Formats: sequence, structure tokens, C-alpha cells
Amino acid sequence: MDVKQIDTSSPFYLQALSLRDAILRKPLNLSIYEENLSLEKLEIHFVLTQEKKVLGTVSLVPIYRENKGNLRQMATHETIRGMGFGKLLVKKLEEYAMNHSIHSIRLHARYHAIGFYKKIGYKIVSKPFEEVGIPHVAMEKALI
Ligand SMILES: CC(C)(COP(=O)(O)OP(=O)(O)OC[C@H]1O[C@@H](n2cnc3c(N)ncnc32)[C@H](O)[C@@H]1OP(=O)(O)O)[C@@H](O)C(=O)NCCC(=O)NCCS
Repeated sequence: MDVKQIDTSSPFYLQALSLRDAILRKPLNLSIYEENLSLEKLEIHFVLTQEKKVLGTVSLVPIYRENKGNLRQMATHETIRGMGFGKLLVKKLEEYAMNHSIHSIRLHARYHAIGFYKKIGYKIVSKPFEEVGIPHVAMEKALI
């Protein structure tokens, strides 16, 4: 298993989209392909691969002028959950962030994922709100 940093021109990006669609959208009767993905070329994407197959993904929206960033679209394939790969993906994203003067990361967590983010150092910083039709909370982690 390997984590790669990719951009939207990579063939792995299309696989990551497909994984995101299956895990984060289809169960909500939504489709990632109906979204405007054009701004994703400005994001930094990380994929977990095994034999050229994408089994996990997460993306960073960098806001360099404010030394902060947003983590989004976090998903690992259901067959490899609980094995530390989600944590590894976020670690790679945080390493990139720290190397690019990003000092804090913010994200919107679905309720069932709050425990995962808490385990890796994120704290709830908002009241619940709705996104993609389900409740979320904002969470943050300072990197320095
Ligand atoms: C949330 C998700 C990304 C976690 O990925 P994962 O590969 O299972 O995570 P890891 O194995 O690296 O877990 C790291 C630690 O968090 C724990 N953990 C994982 N998911 C958890 C959860 N939902 N609640 C509480 N703890 C959790 C693990 O047990 C592990 O603990 P340990 O370090 O003591 O062993 C994965 O379950 C997933 O893709 N879910 C569906 C998509 C989703 O909800 N994404 C988040 C959208 S906000």
C-alpha cells in the first residue's frame, strides 16, 4: 500500500472520483459527477493505492494566504477500514500542509466519522449543520 500525491490530470484521480462517488455520494442518492469539479484542479489530492488500484482518498483545499487549509472527501474502501490507512492518508495531507506553511486544518465531519477525526487530533468547533442532506460538525486541528 502506497500513498501518492496527485493532481486532477492523473488517471488515479478518475479512480478516486469513482471511490468517492461509491462511498460518499451513492448512499445518499447523490452523484459526484453532477457536481462542479472544476475547482478541484486547485486542490491537492492524496490517494492510497495497491497494485494501481485506488483504495482510499482525501483532498486538501489550501488557503495559503491565510496559512490554513480544508480537508475534504475523505474515504477508505470498506475492505481496509480500521487498519490505519485513513490515519496514514491524513498524515500525508498534514505533512504536505506543514511543508507549505499551512498551520491549521478544518473539515466538515459526518457524525459517524467524528470518532475517527477525534482519534487523530481534531476537535469539534461548531454546532451541527446540514451538508449533502445529513448532519455534520466542523472540526479543526492546529499543526503547530
Ligand atoms: C472514516 C474513515 C475514513 C476512517 O478510515 P479508516 O481507514 O477506517 O481509519 P483508520 O483505520 O486509519 O483509523 C484510525 C483510528 O481511528 C479509529 N476509527 C476509525 N473509524 C472510526 C469511527 N468511525 N469512529 C471511531 N473511531 C474510528 C480506528 O479504530 C483507529 O483507531 P486506533 O488508532 O486506536 O487503531 C472510513 O471509515 C470511511 O471511509 N468511512 C466512510 C466515508 C466517510 O464517512 N468519510 C468521512 C466523511 S466526513
